[in-house]
Amino acid sequence: MPNPEQVEAEIRQLRREIEGHDRLYYQEAAPVISDQAYDRLMRRLRELEAAHPEFVTADSPTQRVSGQPLAAFRQITHRSPMLSLENTYSEAEVAEFFRRIERHLAGERTVAVIEPKVDGVALSIFYQHGKLVYAATRGNGVAGDDVTANVRTIRSVPLRLHQPYPEEVEVRGEVFMPKRVFAALNESREQAGEPLFANPRNAAAGSLKQLDARIVAERKLDAVFYGWGHVSGSDVWSHRAALAEIARWGLRTPARTWTAETVEGVLAAIKELDVVRHDFSYETDGAVVKVDDFTQRERLGYTSKAPRWAMAFKYQAERAETRLLSIDVQVGRSGKLTPVANLEPVQLSGTVVARATLHNGEEIKRKDIRVGDVVRIEKSGEIIPAVVEVVTARRTGAERVFVMPDHCPSCGRPVVQASGQVDLRCVNVECPDQVKRRLEHFAHKGALDVEGLGEAMVAQLVDAGFVRRLDHIYDLTAEQLGRLERMGNKSISNLLNAIEASKKQPLWRLVFGLGILHVGATASRELASYFGTLDALRSAGVEELTRAHNTGYVMAQSIYDWFRNPDNAALIEALRRHGLNFGHKGEAQALSNKLAGTTWVITGTLSRPRDDFEELIRQHGGRITSSISKKTNYLLAGDEAGSKLPKARQLGVQVVGEKEFAALLDYTAGTA
Ligand code: IVH
Repeated sequence: MPNPEQVEAEIRQLRREIEGHDRLYYQEAAPVISDQAYDRLMRRLRELEAAHPEFVTADSPTQRVSGQPLAAFRQITHRSPMLSLENTYSEAEVAEFFRRIERHLAGERTVAVIEPKVDGVALSIFYQHGKLVYAATRGNGVAGDDVTANVRTIRSVPLRLHQPYPEEVEVRGEVFMPKRVFAALNESREQAGEPLFANPRNAAAGSLKQLDARIVAERKLDAVFYGWGHVSGSDVWSHRAALAEIARWGLRTPARTWTAETVEGVLAAIKELDVVRHDFSYETDGAVVKVDDFTQRERLGYTSKAPRWAMAFKYQAERAETRLLSIDVQVGRSGKLTPVANLEPVQLSGTVVARATLHNGEEIKRKDIRVGDVVRIEKSGEIIPAVVEVVTARRTGAERVFVMPDHCPSCGRPVVQASGQVDLRCVNVECPDQVKRRLEHFAHKGALDVEGLGEAMVAQLVDAGFVRRLDHIYDLTAEQLGRLERMGNKSISNLLNAIEASKKQPLWRLVFGLGILHVGATASRELASYFGTLDALRSAGVEELTRAHNTGYVMAQSIYDWFRNPDNAALIEALRRHGLNFGHKGEAQALSNKLAGTTWVITGTLSRPRDDFEELIRQHGGRITSSISKKTNYLLAGDEAGSKLPKARQLGVQVVGEKEFAALLDYTAGTA
């Protein structure tokens, strides 16, 4: 056993290494180790900290992800208020703004900095003695939500600033969801049948408002900083120097900035930014023009809402006109019919757009969209292009009104419209398009991961009539596959092997692969770990389903209904016969309800890592929180319990040791 000093030294060393890799990865975009190697360092650090909780500090990289749901968001009053900016869409107004400043400064040399207007969620982080103390949203400008736990999950936000730093500083910036992460998130939400986020900003805002920091960690938020509010003893007197300073502390700053000393220069920078901004990892919706010199800023002053030394120029969402050639109706996995416009290809925001969603029949009626119309389409950033309106002035009379079909375009059966809903659905479970979408999802990398079973192969299998239900892939023969296009012996045996291997995939992948409405990958993991077996999940009532971590009522009802559908029940039995992994009883984590409704806090050194005890408490229905309050029922206290012990006694919270805890749960201490 290494002695405590050695352990502490290793912990420090690991933290330095991890912070170094974070910097390389996030600030310099030049990682030098693989994700796996990084994970190994993190795992080792976690292990050591679990065995030696006395060495855990709030700024350790392990503290970025916390499993503790916040009860609600505490309000934090900003040390200096967070103002907004004067906005404009007009170049003339930008010119006027700059001339007004020049007039006010009476002929002094005036440098303006032009930088991207990041389309995220405004954030203020307070660092004291270099340590991250709290992070808050803008709120009403005076006070905002305490989102510290969530912001700690952002790997590019340092928990400690690099030396030298001021004693106190509120850094100001924007939390965003990288465009690529946004696209992937929406794709997986679409597959899970969950509502899509309209744009990266909504996704970032929605993520930041999550009460469970583990979900936030999965959302891979990032942040960029462009200034500060309150600061103690800074000798920085220009915006450019401030940005350099912020970068030196280890925070990310805007990808590019420009300077200009004339109106023409400012407008040219705004134009240039409009071109390069499409390559940034974050969404931008404009340019911010700021006076560089802080003494000039002071003289220019503020209105009640915004500084007089800055202005935001917003770019128009990009639009294009093109002809709508035809409308296809697609049948989704759940049978939903979606009309999609085929367009004469047109250039928009740097990509060629040839299709745009029309959402549903109601939308087509409301906008009076006809086949042959010239339409205006819009795409701001990463949003799926949409038809905004018809250019009615260009109608010739040859346009045709479109009516949604009353029969499924794939299988020909009548479609149904549930009362009060706009969506039309095909309810034939063997509808070929539905089967294709379902099988694509089932075999997808994020679900059962069957290599070789992509869109083209799925289409062939369904069109040949070999697969009418998911489990039919497990009956496929080499002879059948040999009859398909471009299938040699090698590809046949590869595919059959991949299909066979999918039977052993972990339970959560199967749960996800079933494609139950609202059940995404994260929920599938949680359901699998809570219930342990598919049979336990299947027999759970709505009530019990909502008790499983993070399962909302809508999802619980959807799961409940899915298993009660006789077609799905038949599918489950067929999959069981084929020997898919339905989980094992012992894996069930919902061991009992003994601790249901109780709230726990853990403190001190226990015989095993704290995680193990947290897990046990959750498995028996209890909840864990980090600090003691009147709502806490039990404090599980190990050796050398600190301040939590007297606090618990003072509040009358019951204190239990490891032995009593074991007795409560009916197991022998030491075998948890
Ligand atoms: S400066 C007192 N710079 O835009 C000056 N704001 O519409 C405060 N924003 O509330 C802001 N990018 O949340 C500044 N480069 C940038 C920005 C930026 C995005 C946001 C910020 C502000 C809002 C105003």
